[in-house]
Amino acid sequence: YSMSAGIDKIAFFTSPYFIDMTDLANARGEDPNKYLIGIGQQKQAVIPPTQDVVTLAANAASSILTPADKASIDMVILGTESGIDNSKAAAIYVQSLLGISKRARSFEVKQACYGGTAGIQMGMDHLRSHPTSKVLVIASDIARYGLNTPGEVTQGGGAVAMLLTADPRILVIEDKTAFHSDNIMDFWRPLYRREALVDGHYSNNVYVDFFNQTWRDYQNRYQLAIDDFNALIFHLPYPKMGLKALRSIVHESHHPTQLMAAFDAAKTYNSQVGNLYTGSLYLSLLSLLANDTMLKPHDRIGLFSYGSGAQGEFYSARIGDGVKPDDLRQQLNSQLNNRRQLTIAEYEALYETSLPLDGGDRTFDTRTDHSPYILKGRIDNRRQYE
Ligand code: CAA
Repeated sequence: YSMSAGIDKIAFFTSPYFIDMTDLANARGEDPNKYLIGIGQQKQAVIPPTQDVVTLAANAASSILTPADKASIDMVILGTESGIDNSKAAAIYVQSLLGISKRARSFEVKQACYGGTAGIQMGMDHLRSHPTSKVLVIASDIARYGLNTPGEVTQGGGAVAMLLTADPRILVIEDKTAFHSDNIMDFWRPLYRREALVDGHYSNNVYVDFFNQTWRDYQNRYQLAIDDFNALIFHLPYPKMGLKALRSIVHESHHPTQLMAAFDAAKTYNSQVGNLYTGSLYLSLLSLLANDTMLKPHDRIGLFSYGSGAQGEFYSARIGDGVKPDDLRQQLNSQLNNRRQLTIAEYEALYETSLPLDGGDRTFDTRTDHSPYILKGRIDNRRQYE
């Protein structure tokens, strides 16, 4: 395809609360350096009951959409693995809350943390046949493993919203990709559970294995080598995971320090927020665009997406002409620096407060959550958004 299409606008949203990983380590009787260095996590978003994947997504997308965008979007894809309904798509709620045109295809996509990438690739196919349209892709999730579990340090949550168009300013997505799927029990969440089940160390191994398979396949298909890339970014369930994958191939490069420096920039916000599941790769993209000082327009980057269960995809893109690192940094920092730190006791209390899985009416105290869109509770099996 000669057509240029990809991400024209991108925005991130997370909860106004966080916990510090040193506090969590102390509360769990772990050495803080295990969390800070071994996992690579500094802070973790704590999602209050007044936010769910619908409000996180609406809050992320509302900051980038103009009235003209809302009128011309004809596809809304929401990738999530922490959806609120087994039937109705979260995308329909978001479309309605934001006032997006009703002349749109609106639906949800699921394959663990891969759902956002599935949405982007579907959106790209749609743009190739409808170049004047706009596609809204949102990756929104809340990562929960449970109090006092090995996965607890890798929780988090938030949403990344991306507007895909022709001639995009942020990222031109190339029609070069390699993907791989297999039936793997590394991480899953049965319908009756709010917390994920995970075979943690196995999941790390499968992740690196899928990365290597898709990376080799991509290289063979397009005859490109590691030094054809200015940066490689990864799905980051936690920052160390991406580093493990990068380390498995970085010896192929003549400029390994450049790729390692780009990885350092690309984990900036992930290390402050935790796992966003579907959104993690795209928060890493934002981290890279805002904090890497070497990248120039037209540079090629590689993106590795991984969803347990499992699906991997490695694809490439070129940096757009309209990236403004200072503006991105200012937006992200002002959001993250304005969060309120919770004690571990406050976090544990919030963790137990959410809509019961088996139904029942609830009204939440919404006075402390000043986000533009909030979940007020549930009446008569209907979620109440404001
Ligand atoms: N100082 C520095 N480093 C330390 C340390 C210390 N005092 N103590 C331990 N460490 C290091 C360890 O050496 C280890 O590093 P390496 O992995 O490089 O060897 C790291 O800290 C973690 O230590 P453990 O492996 O002992 O930690 P753990 O057994 O408690 O669990 C985990 C780690 C498996 C990642 C767990 O947090 C988990 O299950 N997380 C959820 C699953 C997950 O995120 N999987 C990722 C792949 S699946 C995926 O990507 C999809 C998705 O989003 C879920």
